[in-house]
Amino acid sequence: MGLRMISVRNEYCGIVEKKGGEKAQSQDEIAAAIESENLTKIYHDDIRAVDGTSFSVRSGEIFGLLGPNGAGKSTTIKMLVTLTKPTSGRLRVFGVDVSTSPEAVRAMMGYVPQSLSADGDLSGYENLLIFAKLSYVSKKDRAERISQALQYVELSDRADDLVKYYSGGMMRRLEIAQAIVNRPRVLLMDEPTIGLDPASRTQVWRIIKQLNHEFGTTILITTHDMNEADVLSDRIAIMSVGKIVATGTPADLKRTVGGDIITLQLLSEPPTIIPIEIGKVIQTSDHTIQILTEDGEEAIPLITDYLRGQQVKIESISINKPSLDDVFMKYAKRRLDEEVPLHTTGAIRDRRNIVRHKA
Ligand SMILES: Nc1ncnc2c1ncn2[C@@H]1O[C@H](COP(=O)(O)OP(=O)(O)OP(=O)(O)O)[C@@H](O)[C@H]1O
Ligand SMILES: [Mg+2]
Repeated sequence: MGLRMISVRNEYCGIVEKKGGEKAQSQDEIAAAIESENLTKIYHDDIRAVDGTSFSVRSGEIFGLLGPNGAGKSTTIKMLVTLTKPTSGRLRVFGVDVSTSPEAVRAMMGYVPQSLSADGDLSGYENLLIFAKLSYVSKKDRAERISQALQYVELSDRADDLVKYYSGGMMRRLEIAQAIVNRPRVLLMDEPTIGLDPASRTQVWRIIKQLNHEFGTTILITTHDMNEADVLSDRIAIMSVGKIVATGTPADLKRTVGGDIITLQLLSEPPTIIPIEIGKVIQTSDHTIQILTEDGEEAIPLITDYLRGQQVKIESISINKPSLDDVFMKYAKRRLDEEVPLHTTGAIRDRRNIVRHKA
């Protein structure tokens, strides 16, 4: 893919390279790509889908909105792409307000919706042609832009096949091609890998990373998958029931959980005391002890020395780094996969769509 991309690189959306590039920062890079201030969306039946969120996405970063079903992720994205209006608050894209200048905002944007949007009875090429026209790609540029977008997502050789014969992964890649055919400055992806098998998921991740790295495209993804948020995002906002409960880099957020957890399986009873400078005992049972430490790797030799001195034999040791699920637990007081409210079946419905198209 690397070689193919060179052909589109210098033309793609006129965005300066961010990562690895040495160009000076432009005004746009300094400005926030997306700014949300006290953003609220109340649907007609009094559902507070988004409840006063404030966040900022920097130009050129991959920003993850992580939250379970019904958190308000899709509603946030729909307000950004001007598909639904905020009830109150402000939302700006590169300084342009979505409420007062929706056309200008749309022109900067590419959007991969959570539900499949490609038409199964048209070919991949035809779907892209419609998107190119809808997003005002000029007639003279269309053929070239479509061909580059197809190359980018590795679908050139399947461009003339009907989309209903595509696999779920191919459909997702086609939708990414649709979203980038107008060379957007900001790409919004709503659950980009939902329902995909691990190989297709990895392929989509690679495309997302590459778009960001090669062209500095600002990318906002939503996901309920902590691993996806962790792997892809420069920064994350954790959403729960319409609110943002924490924001930061994955590493910073995990650090707020308070250190590494070391679990020791012992061949005899654990000692009654562990010196505080080693760590804090958080759980003991028959032959198991769990210790919270600031740095697991540094603490292990101290712990083994201490236990040896106490004539306690160790069977096994493991270090668990905090996950984003632990972070979610800390701030939202529940696990990411806990409790799916009955009225929020969006994600489940979309998985079914993929299966139906495949058949
Ligand atoms: N058009 C609508 N009318 C009324 N309520 C809606 C509408 N769209 C979403 N909601 C409700 O708003 C809340 C947030 O939904 P939203 O789709 O934004 O969540 P989400 O985080 O994207 O969830 P999922 O992971 O299931 O896609 C939910 O309670 C949902 O039922
Ligand atoms: Mg959603």
